[in-house]
Amino acid sequence: MRRTLVAGNWKLNLGPGAGADLAAAIQSALAGRKLRGDVLVCPPYVTIPAVAAFAQGSPLLLGAQDCSDQAKGAFTGQVSAVMLAEAGCSHVIVAHSERRQYQRETDPLFIAKIDRAHEAGLIAVFCYGELLDERRAGRAEAVVAAQLQGVLPQLAQATADNLILAYEPVWAIGTGETATPAIAQQMHQYSRAQVAALLGADAAARMRILYGGSCKPSNARELFALSDVDGGLIGGASLDAESFLGIVEAAEEIAA
Ligand code: PGA
Repeated sequence: MRRTLVAGNWKLNLGPGAGADLAAAIQSALAGRKLRGDVLVCPPYVTIPAVAAFAQGSPLLLGAQDCSDQAKGAFTGQVSAVMLAEAGCSHVIVAHSERRQYQRETDPLFIAKIDRAHEAGLIAVFCYGELLDERRAGRAEAVVAAQLQGVLPQLAQATADNLILAYEPVWAIGTGETATPAIAQQMHQYSRAQVAALLGADAAARMRILYGGSCKPSNARELFALSDVDGGLIGGASLDAESFLGIVEAAEEIAA
């Protein structure tokens, strides 16, 4: 049985003050609960210490949205995986579609970032998924296969315990569009088959694959019920305690 994960990616939102308020609301809703799944928030770097104060001793997990591909040194503006671990993070997102698009990041960088994350003891959440044009051209599976093949077999120490996948149909991010359950299941099942071919059947059976793309309380139940969907990477809907907690409850119900 794979444990569900509901991961909030706050993106470029919520400084330390507002982030602490949201973390406090989530923490108080989860306090004393024995959750069946995992709940993670990924604030901007400067907000991590404020959220860490609420995550400590709570089921709430803390992650970052990115990390450096370098361990340390003269790399202005970068933050290392080791620093994130020291600051209380257990997870780090790598290769989000917005970093692929706006920072033009590509596979060699993702491999190095995930390796640094693993060396620091962090769990990496590796994002991948096709663009609208690629889907329209009938290339969704080919794109996803190339993205997974380009990174997974090159990782120094990837396992189902330190790597989580997040399938992002990029056409459904921040657009209010959601992949139909049939599309989501098909792409997740396809992804899992790729993982089996690249990392082995056991890793594929145990690896969590999140769905990322306008997941909301109103569609979370339907998505999380799909056999190869193990939770969600939530953008917009993770910025509000009520909607994020609504998605968490959907995951808890499915896991029951
Ligand atoms: P969204 O973002 O929920 O705002 O669509 C999801 C993501 O970036 O993975």
